[in-house]
Amino acid sequence: MNPLEALAALHDTFPVLEPGHVWLAGAGPGDPGMLTLDALAGLAQADVIVHDALVGERVLKLAGPRATLEFAGKRGGRPSTQQADITARLIELARANKRVLRLKGGDPCVFGRGGEEAIALADAGIPFRLIPGITAGLAGLAAASIPATMRGVNQAISFVTGHADADFDWTALARTGQPIVIYMAMRNVEPIVQALARGGLAATTPAAVIVAATLPEQHVVITRLDHLAAEVRRLGFTMPGLIVIGEIVKVRDRLLRLAAQAGAAK
Ligand SMILES: C[S@@+](CC[C@H](N)C(=O)[O-])C[C@H]1O[C@@H](n2cnc3c(N)ncnc32)[C@H](O)[C@@H]1O
Repeated sequence: MNPLEALAALHDTFPVLEPGHVWLAGAGPGDPGMLTLDALAGLAQADVIVHDALVGERVLKLAGPRATLEFAGKRGGRPSTQQADITARLIELARANKRVLRLKGGDPCVFGRGGEEAIALADAGIPFRLIPGITAGLAGLAAASIPATMRGVNQAISFVTGHADADFDWTALARTGQPIVIYMAMRNVEPIVQALARGGLAATTPAAVIVAATLPEQHVVITRLDHLAAEVRRLGFTMPGLIVIGEIVKVRDRLLRLAAQAGAAK
């Protein structure tokens, strides 16, 4: 059964990607099982799929036979395709009456520039649709058996960019005492840890590094705030990684222990 037949079987009907339209869709964290059915419908119908580096081969294999693939992103440390060039290309393809799927890792609007691209398309008069995806922060927590929220543990959770360009008051975040999930922090972890400690987070605060969440290379390291930078250095920077800091990390042990007792451990 091809993806379109599968969707028809599930839905009776499925959303139609019209010629001249752009769908800005999330592909989830990497595992094709995390794609939404609407993203799959986009893959099956698109004439052109403009994707970033976080969209893996296994997801792109679900493209329909008429689709051409265009890479637009950052790969192997080489400079990123300029954002202005990407939006110009999306507009050009839509004006050429193509069905365009702009596919991004995770959710297109969580540290993914989906909002900027949507605004550029709207400005240019191009019909578009935003299709959410499972963001790496949530998928990574689940894949590492760390619940995002638990009664009695946390009342909030923050998703933050750790990109060095971002100007952010980490000490204020530390003072909330709530767990923090940090994207794009692997190369910038030392100053972040220092700022969180200045904000009052104890050196022993539980922390996790989740690398390549949901992918075959997935790797989870459990540590504490004062050992975090050393652990990140040891892991290296070849795969995307998330950092989680807070008491919620401790739930993992309990969960895995109980799951093992129940015979359901991974
Ligand atoms: C430019 S942001 C894009 C985030 C994406 N839009 C999302 O919603 O997941 C890239 C960062 O997302 C995180 N990331 C994406 N996929 C990941 C994965 N499979 N495992 C761990 N972290 C991931 C990493 O922190 C990476 O540096």
